[in-house]
Formats: sequence, structure tokens, C-alpha cells
Amino acid sequence: MFIVSAYSSKRVREENKVRQQFLESEYLSLWRAYGFWELPTKELSLQDFEQSARPSVDEVREQMGSGCECALCPQRKNLVFGSGSPTARLMLVGEAPAAEEDAQGLPFVGPAGQLLTKILEAMGLKREEVYLTNVVKCRPPQNRVPAPEEVSSCSPFLEEQIRAIAPEMIIALGTTAFATLVEDDTPLAESRGKVRTLAWDGKTPVMPTFHPAYLLKHPEAKKLVWEDMKTVMAFLGAKV
Ligand code: URA
Repeated sequence: MFIVSAYSSKRVREENKVRQQFLESEYLSLWRAYGFWELPTKELSLQDFEQSARPSVDEVREQMGSGCECALCPQRKNLVFGSGSPTARLMLVGEAPAAEEDAQGLPFVGPAGQLLTKILEAMGLKREEVYLTNVVKCRPPQNRVPAPEEVSSCSPFLEEQIRAIAPEMIIALGTTAFATLVEDDTPLAESRGKVRTLAWDGKTPVMPTFHPAYLLKHPEAKKLVWEDMKTVMAFLGAKV
């Protein structure tokens, strides 16, 4: 059905091989036509090919259509895909839209989002400079934690969003984002603050930290999040 599985890294490697064979055969006939029998040695790197095969965020949005067809889709008001810069260096991933996000179709616009905006401002960043999204794009009833099948149905679109934006770093906000992106069930209190890598590509750095909704209930944890944000800023080469 969709680009998601087609662009998994194994598939990219296979496609690259086929493409390489094709290019070589074209070169071969050309060179033969000119009486040369040796192949030119220039190779497409996997990185070059991955770059050329990347979708745009708009394409991913288009592919997502009216949703991933999980149980959450029929219950939501609006699908909350994401917002911000399609070329952001920093991407922030939360759990799921809440009431205000569902009403507006935008991520992080309710109370937790307002706190997140303040955190970003303290880091010297505007919301439009980063990219904000969630693991699932439709609001779970009563803001419950998304079920594993809802996460697995929706997260391929997140994977494609990440491939499209290719951020230098991702901040995983809260347990659901951390468990989905890093594929680690360790409690967040133990894992936050240490740079990890995105399980899907094995290379994009991920900083796990507390969700701003958690900070609204536990303001004492703000100083820990600020420590994590300082690490992110240092990583991005921003002034701390
Ligand atoms: N909580 C989230 O995880 N995401 C939002 O967009 C809003 C609240």
C-alpha cells in the first residue's frame, strides 16, 4: 500500500543493488559501443541513494490520507500530523494528541504544548524552527496511553516523517516516544538525559526526556529536563 515498508533500510539496500546493476549494464553497453571493455568504477553510495529516495513531508502527509486505519481514527476530530520546519535540525516527538490538539489539528497547542514552547524559547528556538509531532496522530479517548497495536499501525508514518526531515537529533518526550523510537522498555527516569540512537536507522541521535505533561504535574522534574535540553543544545552547537 505505502512507501513505508518500501523504504525500510533493507529494501533501500536491495533497491540500490538493482539500481547499481542497471546502471552498470547501461554503462557496459555504452562502453562496449565505444570499444571499451572495462567498467567505470564510480559507485553510488547507499547514502547518495537514500538521499535521493527520501520522500518529502508533504508526500508522507499525502500518503497518510485520512489515517492509518487503527481504532483511534474513527473517534478523532482531526488527524494531527505534525508542524514546523520540513528541514528542522531538531525534531520533538510526543505521545498522542490531547483534546486541544484534536480540536485544532495541530500538535502541542494545549497546556503541555505551551510549556514545551517555553522550553524551546529558553533554548533559543522558535516552534517554527523545529518539527513537532507524535507517535500516534489521532487522539486516544480520555487521553489514554495508545495501545501497542495503535502504535504499530501509526508509527510507520512517523518513521517516514523522520526520513523526510532527516533531523540531526530527536527529542523523545515521555515513555511512549522513548519506547517507540529507541525500542527500549527501561523506565524513563533511568534512561532520560543519555543520548541514544533511533532503532529504525541505528544512527539518528535520540535524547529521551520527560514529557511536558509530566512536568505540569511534577514541576520538580523541570531542572532535569533543562539538563537534558542543555545536552541537546551542546550537541547542536548552540550556545548554552
Ligand atoms: N501530548 C502529546 O504527547 N502530544 C501533543 O501533541 C499534546 C499533548
